[in-house]
Amino acid sequence: MSSYERLKERYTAANQPHVFTYWDKLNEKERDELLQNLNKIDIERANRIFAKSIHASEGGNEQDSIEPLPDDAFDTTIGEENVANVASWRKIGLDAIGAGKVGVLLMAGGQGTRLGSSDPKGCYDIGLPSHKSLFQIQAERILRLQTVAEKELGKPEGSVIVSWYIMISGPTHPATVAFFEKHHYFGLPRSNVIFFEQGILPCFSPGGKVILASPTEIATAPDGNGGLYAGLRAPLSPSDPDHSVLSDLKSRGIEYIHAYAVDNCLVRVADPVFVGYSIEKQADCAAKVVPKAAPHEAVGVVALKGNAFSVVEYSEITKEQAERKDSKYPDRLAFRAANIANHFYTRTFLEEVESFESQLAFHIAHKKIPYCPVDNPTGETIRPSKSNGIKLELFVFDVFPFAKHMFVLEVERKEEFSPLKNAPGTGSDDPDTSRTDILAQQKRFLQRAGASVTEGVVIEISSLASYAGEGLDAVKGKTYIRSGFVGSVEELDALV
Ligand code: UTP
Repeated sequence: MSSYERLKERYTAANQPHVFTYWDKLNEKERDELLQNLNKIDIERANRIFAKSIHASEGGNEQDSIEPLPDDAFDTTIGEENVANVASWRKIGLDAIGAGKVGVLLMAGGQGTRLGSSDPKGCYDIGLPSHKSLFQIQAERILRLQTVAEKELGKPEGSVIVSWYIMISGPTHPATVAFFEKHHYFGLPRSNVIFFEQGILPCFSPGGKVILASPTEIATAPDGNGGLYAGLRAPLSPSDPDHSVLSDLKSRGIEYIHAYAVDNCLVRVADPVFVGYSIEKQADCAAKVVPKAAPHEAVGVVALKGNAFSVVEYSEITKEQAERKDSKYPDRLAFRAANIANHFYTRTFLEEVESFESQLAFHIAHKKIPYCPVDNPTGETIRPSKSNGIKLELFVFDVFPFAKHMFVLEVERKEEFSPLKNAPGTGSDDPDTSRTDILAQQKRFLQRAGASVTEGVVIEISSLASYAGEGLDAVKGKTYIRSGFVGSVEELDALV
C-alpha cells in the first residue's frame, strides 16, 4: 500500500477525508508535502481529544461544589509570623539545590498574541536600564542561585547545577534557540539548557472537521501549556528515541522540579523557599499563589472543586463566593489563592501523568483560523473576520485533581508576580508595569539592606549580584542619589 493509500484510508476512517480535497490539483512536490504533514498528526488521538472536550464543555462538572482550600494544605510566607518558617523552608530547598536534586521547567511555548511582538515573549526587552530580556533575567537568577548555594553550603565554585528545561512550540522554537545561541546561553553551560517541544493539535471546525490551512496543510496550534506533560516524555531528538526530558531528569538525579511561565519578570526561578516548603510537606505537586487583588479580579483561584484541588475560573464562582471572607481571617478573601502558573512537582508525579492523561479534558477556545475552503475549493487561504474554529488546549494546572499530596503556598504579589501579557500602553500587565514592578522591588531590596534611595532615583541591580535581595550588606547606611544599572554590589558605590 502506498503512503497515499494508507493515509487516505486512515483519514477516511477518522471521518476526515476532506484533507484530500485538493489532491488532484497538486503537483508531485505538493503531494509529498501534504502526505508529510498528514503523517505528523495522530488524527485518531486528535479526534478523541476533540470529542472529549466537546462532551466536557456540554455537560461539565457544573454540579461540583466549590470550597476554599483546606487549612492543612495551605500556607503563606506573608507576615512577620512566618519569617522563621520561610528561613527553614529556604534551607531545605537550598540543600536540595546543592545536592543537584532540583531542576527547572520553563513554559515558553505560547504565541503571546496579546503582547503583539513577533519574537517569543522571553526575548522581550521590558525597557530596564540594562535592556535585559526576560530570558536573560531568568538565566542570571539561575546563575546567582547556583552561586548562593555554593557559598552558603561551602561547596566548590561551579559544583552546583540547576538544569533548565525550556518548553517551546512550533511557533517559538527557531527564534528562541537562535536567541540563546546569539547570547551564548547567557553564561549558562549549554549542556544544562535543554529545549523541548510541546505538542500541536489540529484546529477543528465546530462540527469536528480538521481545518485546512492550505491545500497541503492542516491548520494546527500548540496544545496549551498543559502540553508540557506530553512534551516531557517525547524524544528530544528523532535519532535518540529513548532520550526525553523525563529520562534526562532521571539520569541527572533531579527529583524536584520547579515549573513557571516565561512572562513573569519577578519569578524566583527554582525558588528555594517554595521547593523547600514542598519537600517538607512531602508534596507530589504544589502551587505557588498570590492573594487576589480584589474580590472581582478576573483571575482563576486554586480551590477545591468536587473535593479535588482545581483552578476555578473567575466565571465559575458566584458573587457571594468571590466576596466571601476567610472564616479565620475576616480581612482576607476565602477564595483568594490566585493562580500564577508557578508549580512544584516531584519527578515521580510527572512520570505518573501519562497514566491519567486520557481523563483530562482539553479546553475549547473559539478563534479566527485562516482556512482554505473545501466546499468551493479555490485553493486560496481566507482570513475570517470572526471566529470560525476551535483550538484545543490543555492547561498546566489540569493535573491538580490527580495529585495525591497537593499543597499551596501563598507569597506576596509585589515580590513575585508581575506578568507580561498585554501590548505597550495598555496600562495593565504590560511592559511598563513589568519594568516598574522590578525596579520598585530593587529599591525595596536596597532599603531593606539599610540603604536610602533618593526620590526619583532608579537603580537596577543585576540578578547576578542578588537573587532575592541577599548579598547587599555593603549598602547599609549609604544613600543613593544617582540612577543606573549595576552588574555588582561594588559598582553601586558609583551611585552614592
Ligand atoms: P498565556 O496563556 O498567557 O499565553 O501563557 P501567551 O501565549 O503567553 O499569550 P496570549 O494568550 O497568546 O496573549 C501563559 C504561559 O504559558 C505558556 C506561555 O509561554 C506562558 O509562559 N504557554 C502557553 C505555553 O508554553 N504553551 C502554550 O501553548 C500556551
